[in-house]
Amino acid sequence: MEAAVAPAVRGLRAGCQRLCYGAGSERKWSLQSKQTSFRFCSTGMTLDNINKPTIDRIIRVDHAGEYGANRIYAGQMAVLGRTTVGPVIQQMWDQEKDHLKKFNELMVTFRVRPTVLLPFWNVAGFALGAGTALLGKEGAMACTVAVEESISDHYNSQIRTLMEEDPEKYKELLQIIKKFRDDELEHHDVGLDHNAELVGIEHLFIAVDHCYASSCDGLSFSLCK
Ligand SMILES: [Fe+2]
Ligand SMILES: [Fe+2]
Repeated sequence: MEAAVAPAVRGLRAGCQRLCYGAGSERKWSLQSKQTSFRFCSTGMTLDNINKPTIDRIIRVDHAGEYGANRIYAGQMAVLGRTTVGPVIQQMWDQEKDHLKKFNELMVTFRVRPTVLLPFWNVAGFALGAGTALLGKEGAMACTVAVEESISDHYNSQIRTLMEEDPEKYKELLQIIKKFRDDELEHHDVGLDHNAELVGIEHLFIAVDHCYASSCDGLSFSLCK
């Protein structure tokens, strides 16, 4: 059974890598993984002395989350890009692009594979962003508030995990996650400043987003490990 499923999983992984890094990237990704020197040497962290399952899980989940956030903002911009909130959404999307770029780099550095669910988040994220934007700017901002709240909660729990593991060893990774957590909280507040609460459906989105976070935590991790 496992032998029969393996080619399908390999195909999905190749598709995910194409989504992350572009066509023809599978071989490049694998070569980069072998050639990239470890960049976190200032804290004495090496691939041999880290808690690899925990770090793999954190980076894979965060990469999936940032990828999904990018697709949500892409969907919102497709609908609201030419309205008064367009520049505000674009500014948040630009920050999400930086976050995703950093996790793309960390995946190569730590030799972590992307989740096989990226094709799903590609479509579902865009649909969520565009669908909520069709409700108007308050709908889009309610979605932003819910998603950003969930992602920042997620980052906070990862910060606690890494602090309990070894704050000195994971210092640089902690700095990255704390910075991104602060960016997400800022996005959350931007959503509130733009009347997200007027829609009154942010609780629905929070429920949807908790499902999303759980599936990142559980399903995508178990499929990718
Ligand atoms: Fe982000
Ligand atoms: Fe964000």
